[in-house]
Amino acid sequence: MEFHEVINKRRTSREWTNKEVDFEAIKQIIAAGMKAPSWDHYRNWQFIVLHERKEKEQAFAYAKAVAKRYVDSNHTYSRPNLAQKMYAYAMPRQYSMLVDCPYVIVPLFKCARLNAEWVSKLNPLSTAWCVAENIMLAVINERLGYSLRIPLNKEHNVVLAKLGVPNGWMTPCFIGVGYPKEDELVLEQYDSTPDSHIHMGGWRS
Ligand SMILES: Cc1cc2nc3c(=O)[nH]c(=O)nc-3n(C[C@H](O)[C@H](O)[C@H](O)COP(=O)(O)O)c2cc1C
Repeated sequence: MEFHEVINKRRTSREWTNKEVDFEAIKQIIAAGMKAPSWDHYRNWQFIVLHERKEKEQAFAYAKAVAKRYVDSNHTYSRPNLAQKMYAYAMPRQYSMLVDCPYVIVPLFKCARLNAEWVSKLNPLSTAWCVAENIMLAVINERLGYSLRIPLNKEHNVVLAKLGVPNGWMTPCFIGVGYPKEDELVLEQYDSTPDSHIHMGGWRS
């Protein structure tokens, strides 16, 4: 695919067809992740790949509870803005969007403890997001789709413990990969044209 086609086609998917994904495509996608820029030059990343449904169900029990809690709360907005509409659509799907697709990739980066005092202290996490973004764009390039879940608070440690990840490793996110349902609802986005976001020479209000 041409670069701008990949950029323009990228979106987050949360509903899937039953079509299987070729594992060669998953390897290509992870290869793109491995090409990401690396703050310390080491490319010290590992990738857990989940394929069996049982593995995914066990790993993401926490997300299942999060989605259920949201559904049970019956929460509604009286006049939702676009972000609230997205949230209301996404929350009930936090579990199904991971277990109903053929693969989930869990990128891992070496870091014992996050330190958010300065942005530079977050370099290990920032680098892992570069890996994740390469993965997401590579998924689109393979004409597949992806779902994305950021583990909520202690969900991070719960999932990594279930996956047997040794101490000293972290993940930025869980990335589901599959063939999205063609008729999945596509929610309205805020305008992405850059003109009103560019400040030449310094901040201009
Ligand atoms: C840092 C980050 C965290 C996100 N966390 C979640 C998440 O936990 N669950 C989810 O369904 N989507 C998550 N998303 C996806 C956003 O909801 C989505 O990117 C946004 O609504 C824009 O829609 P689009 O990706 O289809 O363009 C996350 C995206 C980012 C960049």
